[in-house]
Amino acid sequence: YDLLTGKHLVITAGPTREPIDPVRYLTNKSSGKMGFALAQAAAEAGARVTLIAGPVALDTPNRVNRIDVVRAEDMHEASLKAVEEGCDIFIATAAVADYRPTVTADHKIKKSTEEIHLTLVKNPDIIAAVACHAKRPFTVGFAAETQDVIEYAQGKLKSKKLDMIATNDVSGTNVGFNSDNNALTVIWPGGHKVLPLASKAQIAKQLIELIAIRQS
Ligand code: C5P
Repeated sequence: YDLLTGKHLVITAGPTREPIDPVRYLTNKSSGKMGFALAQAAAEAGARVTLIAGPVALDTPNRVNRIDVVRAEDMHEASLKAVEEGCDIFIATAAVADYRPTVTADHKIKKSTEEIHLTLVKNPDIIAAVACHAKRPFTVGFAAETQDVIEYAQGKLKSKKLDMIATNDVSGTNVGFNSDNNALTVIWPGGHKVLPLASKAQIAKQLIELIAIRQS
């Protein structure tokens, strides 16, 4: 309790949905569970919490201010607005689509030739933009990898200028995407801590404690 009293946390969660036409989109398998568990743990630790959520089927935790978004560009805009207004800690758990269709068709695309082509353009890197902001909060990222987990995570910590990165190996079936359990290795410049397999609620509580200690 009270570990984060007076602090404003912003958390991104869930997938993003990138429209192809009015009835079709690109997305991924993120459930949003880890981000929602972190929002709940942060609120229970006394923080004011803004949860920027992509399309997910989850209830909003108590005392959490939820902003629903759809596309990566919407999540980017909502995140930068929250940072601009002032926050102490930013945690990016969202599985942001790396690419979006270059154009969204105004009308449903008709079935035609045997082969059609979809051109994609890179989405903005939300957490990298937050970490470079003049009003930079303590910035925590996530990395879901299937191989060389620690090496990739350390690379991301540096390249995105993060204060901390939480990494999980999503090659197994009992952790990560859509599971109720998770195991994390949390890395920061000069140290790391392993949070062994536990419920996402328990993992969230431990990660919030670690963040509260390191950002103070
Ligand atoms: O580069 P990668 O997608 O693996 O990085 C994962 C971390 O970066 C996560 O914290 C994720 O929420 C964040 N991210 C982001 N905006 C993107 C891509 C990833 O905030 N466009």
